[in-house]
Amino acid sequence: MKVLVVGSGGREHALAWALKRSAHVQEVYVAPGNGGTAETAVNVPIAVDDIPALADYAQQEAFDLVVVGPELPLALGVSDALQARGIRVFGPSAKAARIESSKAFSKDFMRAHGIPTAEYAVFEDYREALRYLETHPAPIVVKASGLAAGKGSIVCQTDEEARAALDLIMRQRAFGDAGDQVVIEECLQGQEVSVLAFADGETVVPMVLVQDHKAAYDGDRGPNTGGMGCYAPAPLLDEEMLQQVIAKVLQPVVTGMAQQGTPYVGVLYAGLMVSGRDFQVLEFNCRFGDPETQVILPLLRTDLVEVLDACIEGRLNQVELQWADQFCVCVVMASGGYPGHYEKGYEIQGLEEVAQLADTVVFHAGTQRKDGRVLTAGGRVLGVTAWADDLPEAIKRAYAAVERIHWPNVMYRRDIGAKGLKLLEEQG
Ligand code: AMP
Ligand code: GLY
Repeated sequence: MKVLVVGSGGREHALAWALKRSAHVQEVYVAPGNGGTAETAVNVPIAVDDIPALADYAQQEAFDLVVVGPELPLALGVSDALQARGIRVFGPSAKAARIESSKAFSKDFMRAHGIPTAEYAVFEDYREALRYLETHPAPIVVKASGLAAGKGSIVCQTDEEARAALDLIMRQRAFGDAGDQVVIEECLQGQEVSVLAFADGETVVPMVLVQDHKAAYDGDRGPNTGGMGCYAPAPLLDEEMLQQVIAKVLQPVVTGMAQQGTPYVGVLYAGLMVSGRDFQVLEFNCRFGDPETQVILPLLRTDLVEVLDACIEGRLNQVELQWADQFCVCVVMASGGYPGHYEKGYEIQGLEEVAQLADTVVFHAGTQRKDGRVLTAGGRVLGVTAWADDLPEAIKRAYAAVERIHWPNVMYRRDIGAKGLKLLEEQG
């Protein structure tokens, strides 16, 4: 098979890496890719939001399968465009992708299907939203409904912050059209867990659970980021709770979408807030997570192409996912200053040495290859990933690799996985 991956982050490098290991795959292309995929696969300079160019290219090169990483092309209808040309694609249609691309749609869908989620209201009018804040004091969460590159949800600890968030989204239009509608919701407490699942339009099968670390600094302090590292499997839901998540969250989405005539095929990602044995949905994503994918795919023992094929062909119920009985940890190395302003173009040292380490792989995100050197080219630069039989050893291996990699102003969290160690200790 000849496969095209759409995207340019660590998630797409991990997808290209896993696809390359499939017994069914000969060639992997990535559009537009990064400095890491340039080595694993062939990069093609097409932007993820140029849907006509992606469709033309995929048809011209006769790809057997296209795997879409980010939400933007899915929301813009890349799956619909590829399918219209008879190309097999893994990723939901634009209509099904509304579960992520419109938080207003997603919340209304959850309410209609009895999926546990925070109390909320949707507004298109600034003054009405402001009035709602008067009767709903902080802590409260103000969200731009549309896609905002992960920055559109603002958790407000004071009433003043909540008014400022509303002003930012609706009056300053900081996220453009994404702020045409605003969701204001109750602030939930607890620990977050990412539940990713494969879906074929009817059947839904969860992957290993992942805990991401969204705050920029150690101890969950500092601004929210796309994710500074994660580990799997996360001991946040026991088997009984996982069955409840399937019955009350994942299956109702897939069944509800099918009933609406917009079958859900692809990855369904539920971000949950867990408190004791209670859980609520914070958000849905219509795609693989980043960095979650970097710890999921190294643990997947089933051939990835066989799973994706089964989803596309509506026979996921015939596939049994096999997972390594191990832990995997990914530490994101970022440019100093991320998620705010940062410098790019520094040469990354130590990658050859780390490439020799066992059970370790460095997934690239914001990197670029130039004259045989690898340069930093984004906020999140690398996802340094390692696996082992237990979590302490996986953490140790990941950080042993991190310590060998250098560039000026590098920044990373030193406590990725620590929450997992604490949970495992508490559970004995
Ligand atoms: P979202 O864009 O909805 O995924 O939200 C991004 C992040 O904001 C989540 O991962 C949480 O950390 C936080 N968040 C979102 N909604 C809530 C909520 N209702 N209560 C507390 N935190 C939230
Ligand atoms: N790591 C969070 C996300 O992929 O949305």
